[in-house]
Amino acid sequence: MSIHEANRMRRLPLYLFTIIDELKEKARSRGVDIIDLGMGNPDLPTPKHIVDELCKQARLTENQRYSRPNDKPEMVFKEAVATWYRERFDVELDPVSEVLPLIGSKEGVAHLSLAFLNHDDIALVPNPAYPVHFNGVIMAGGILYNIPMTAENQFKPDLRSLSPELVRMAKLLFISYPHNPTSSVADIEFFRDVVEWAKDKPNLIIAHDLAYSDIVYDGFKAPSILEVEGAKDLNLIEFHTLSKSYNMAGWRIGYAVGSKNVLASLAKTKSYIDFGIFRAIQLAAAKALTGPQDCVKQLVETYRKRRDVMIDGLNSIGWEVDKPKATFYIWAHIPPKFSALTSMEFATLLVEEAGVVVAPGTGFGEYGEGYVRFALVEDEKRLKIAVERINKVLKTED
Ligand SMILES: Cc1ncc(COP(=O)(O)O)c(C=O)c1O
Repeated sequence: MSIHEANRMRRLPLYLFTIIDELKEKARSRGVDIIDLGMGNPDLPTPKHIVDELCKQARLTENQRYSRPNDKPEMVFKEAVATWYRERFDVELDPVSEVLPLIGSKEGVAHLSLAFLNHDDIALVPNPAYPVHFNGVIMAGGILYNIPMTAENQFKPDLRSLSPELVRMAKLLFISYPHNPTSSVADIEFFRDVVEWAKDKPNLIIAHDLAYSDIVYDGFKAPSILEVEGAKDLNLIEFHTLSKSYNMAGWRIGYAVGSKNVLASLAKTKSYIDFGIFRAIQLAAAKALTGPQDCVKQLVETYRKRRDVMIDGLNSIGWEVDKPKATFYIWAHIPPKFSALTSMEFATLLVEEAGVVVAPGTGFGEYGEGYVRFALVEDEKRLKIAVERINKVLKTED
């Protein structure tokens, strides 16, 4: 008997990382030592005090039951999020109605589209983007409208260039700064402009993904869109995660904050699908947010050193790349000599010839063509080796 995936799944773009993974495995089976800078999967350990809290809480019977939205352990986490937002951004949140725990922000982003998009509803998604921003729309059966982002506009969506008819029909807009994959950053002026633009659009939901707020360098401070006056009067939510700031990617915990109405619909959608997050994880995450933050500083310093090693290395071999002010990604234009190759072909060349895995730009949407993304998830020594190997490939192809 033949089985067929649902049409909405078949509408999803080819998952390029699957192809890269296959190439990686093939190279590994040939004995190649792979330096994997493909996926943004943090390589460093979760700080000890957070793991200790998880172990302590996991032993308690009351934490082994189903999670309920406003029980004591859940409120500890939600209050910790509210405290963190107050201290970090001077933004006040009601822990009961303006904070929603998520099984990672990816889960929340995907379910936001499911919660709100009908089959003929348009979602505006800047492109390139973190893939679930557009894949969530496709899986929900909505209509995806890609807003092109290019180096010329510093990888920012030009919202005012969108036609008023299109914007009137749109129900959802995603933005995300500091940005994955381009590492572009936005200051508070950018968010003020978005809020101003959105004020006369009562049917539009704005979702800001702030996954990399803590991974910032050279004095840059990443703002929350909720800092903007009037932001809380809009249908606006912000996604956040503990995956990056505290190396908790495998733990699966994030949260959304902002508009009560939007969060209530997202919570309703989730309530038909999941039972929340293991309480011990929520309590350990609360510890992460309210405990000592020097672990975050140390992490950022590690990424800063890696960034400098990688950028200086690439520039020294003639591959010109700008130093990002945030995230642990380097978004690199394919060197001119290889401009005839697609980003997938160039990424394939790097795996096969250098044993270095990078993410092809088109993995983040069609406007990622011409670029590859390095994730700085190996140590400085390995990054130096990666640069040496890439140098050899660039030279041999002369
Ligand atoms: C922009 C962005 N949002 C969300 C996520 C996913 O985070 P989480 O682990 O909370 O699902 C990532 C992970 O790479 C990301 O880059």
